[in-house]
Amino acid sequence: MAAPERERRKSRRAGECVLLLVFTCALRCAQSLKDSNVVLILTDDLDVELGGLTPLKKTQTLIGDAGVTFSNAYTVTPLCCPSRSSILSGKYPHNHMVRNNSLSGNCSSKSWQNGPESQAFPLYLSKKLYQTFYGGKYLNQYGSKEAGGVTYVPPGWDQWHALVGNSKYYNYTLSVNGKEETHGDSYEKDYLTDLILNRSLNFLEQRSPQHPFFIMLCPPAPHSPWTAAPQYQKSFIDVKAPRDGSFNKPGKGKHWLLRQPQNPMASSSIDYLDDAFRRRWQTLLSVDDMVEKLVKKLEDINELNNTFIFFTSDNGYHTGQFSLPIDKRQLYEFDIRVPLLVRGPGIQPKQTLQDPVINIDLPMTILDIAGVNLSTVNMDGQSFLPQLVPSARNGTSRPFFLVEYTGEGLFPTDPDCPKLGPGLANCFPDCVCEDAVNNTYACVRTLKDSNLQYCEFADNESFVEVYNLTSDPHQLENIVKKVDPSLLQNMNQRLIKLQSCEGKSCRDIKSHL
Ligand SMILES: *[C@@H]1O[C@H](CO)[C@@H](O)[C@H](O)[C@H]1NC(C)=O
Ligand SMILES: *[C@@H]1O[C@H](CO)[C@@H](O)[C@H](O)[C@H]1NC(C)=O
Ligand SMILES: *[C@@H]1O[C@H](CO)[C@@H](O)[C@H](O)[C@H]1NC(C)=O
Ligand SMILES: *[C@@H]1O[C@H](CO)[C@@H](O)[C@H](O)[C@H]1NC(C)=O
Ligand SMILES: *[C@@H]1O[C@H](CO)[C@@H](O)[C@H](O)[C@H]1NC(C)=O
Repeated sequence: MAAPERERRKSRRAGECVLLLVFTCALRCAQSLKDSNVVLILTDDLDVELGGLTPLKKTQTLIGDAGVTFSNAYTVTPLCCPSRSSILSGKYPHNHMVRNNSLSGNCSSKSWQNGPESQAFPLYLSKKLYQTFYGGKYLNQYGSKEAGGVTYVPPGWDQWHALVGNSKYYNYTLSVNGKEETHGDSYEKDYLTDLILNRSLNFLEQRSPQHPFFIMLCPPAPHSPWTAAPQYQKSFIDVKAPRDGSFNKPGKGKHWLLRQPQNPMASSSIDYLDDAFRRRWQTLLSVDDMVEKLVKKLEDINELNNTFIFFTSDNGYHTGQFSLPIDKRQLYEFDIRVPLLVRGPGIQPKQTLQDPVINIDLPMTILDIAGVNLSTVNMDGQSFLPQLVPSARNGTSRPFFLVEYTGEGLFPTDPDCPKLGPGLANCFPDCVCEDAVNNTYACVRTLKDSNLQYCEFADNESFVEVYNLTSDPHQLENIVKKVDPSLLQNMNQRLIKLQSCEGKSCRDIKSHL
């Protein structure tokens, strides 16, 4: 931001301060939320169902144990670019229209830039005089020529250190405040997880202490190519992917894509997924160091007790569940559940909260912390600050929510597996395909009155899957033919309402229709 602009904002702020004190201090000071800083750490492909938090010991201590661990946090769509677009815009995919990881599916497209991104949450923080910093992976197509190249910097960011394209650990290009910066493969100079941490620490040193700050750190870990830091390349050598639940089980009674995998899996697939599992964990050790160093720095500059820290992921992951080797994109808990740990002023330590929270709630919660009037914000999510801070605990959490996904596919088919039918993609070892054009679905997930999932596919079978997560937590049995038809009807009605909801109407859909 230009200096005169900063000065103008400062003087405007001085005037606002008096008003703030008179009218809102009683409320906001009591909650010690005034001018709180916020840090959002968004990992890439980190599951919670397969023990993804296990290697993150320091993170669990420094964030989870110091605050809240949410046991029911979800993404509204299990794929990087659509999910990240939801986090930035606070909208379900049917409202931000980012359908997949390609430009043609609106990932970083001009329509996204001119539409949802121009009203994304960082802009509101900037207007509230937050000093903002971004570091790491952004949207998969960010920095491509058609998306405006590296000179394009989304609005609301004062410091911008964003990765061009999809996750990488070395040999990447960054946009540093709109200028291209290329990196090689020296650990000391280039390792991306460490580099974005270092830049965020510099930002903290150079910030103006008069204003709050917002830091968003998006490490590539634990996304492929799973390149661990040299000191961690021998960690977890005896670890294997968990063998319980739906591991190496057939996708019996499920939609057609899940009926394709070879079962039992070939040993080559199992070796491949075990290797991926280990290397994912190795890359997370650098994320754990990042959290430790960042918390230490906040302590050193006396800001730790005035900073909310959110730790989460864009989507979950699977390694061998229902005989699918590795990926995300499916409707099952392993792919849609995400970790969510939060610490901050007013949050009691060592809490586990069952309230359902979805990723489109993150921006609303952050804006709530920043004191933005939420009725002026056009987002589908809702703030969960009332669940976090006891003195403000009067909001209700939602009874159910929507998960929606548009299948990615290639025509004619994945070139590595030419004998398969048309429209398949992401065919991992032994030609088991993780996605297809018609792997397109929408689900209602209920968690309060009942623990159910109801999903409809847009395929030529109009396939429906229903799970009772209480009696069948691993979703082994599709009970669509066993349940009362009135339940299916009720769930279908909720789904229709959710699929066309926007803003307030997404929050107001009643349990009883
Ligand atoms: C991309 O977004 C624009 C508007 O933001 C929308 O008109 C278009 O249909 C979207 N494309 C897809 C593939 O959904
Ligand atoms: C980085 O690029 C160089 C030059 O192309 C190559 O030799 C090296 O193997 C690459 N390193 C990694 C980690 O991919
Ligand atoms: C990050 O900073 C540390 C401490 O100064 C340094 O040892 C390390 O090489 C830096 N890493 C990167 C990638 O900048
Ligand atoms: C935070 O800690 C500092 C010193 O460590 C103290 O001066 C300040 O009052 C504390 N603030 C809050 C909100 O507890
Ligand atoms: C992404 O979505 C667009 C628009 O629907 C589609 O044309 C394109 O094929 C999709 N990309 C993939 C890889 O499925």
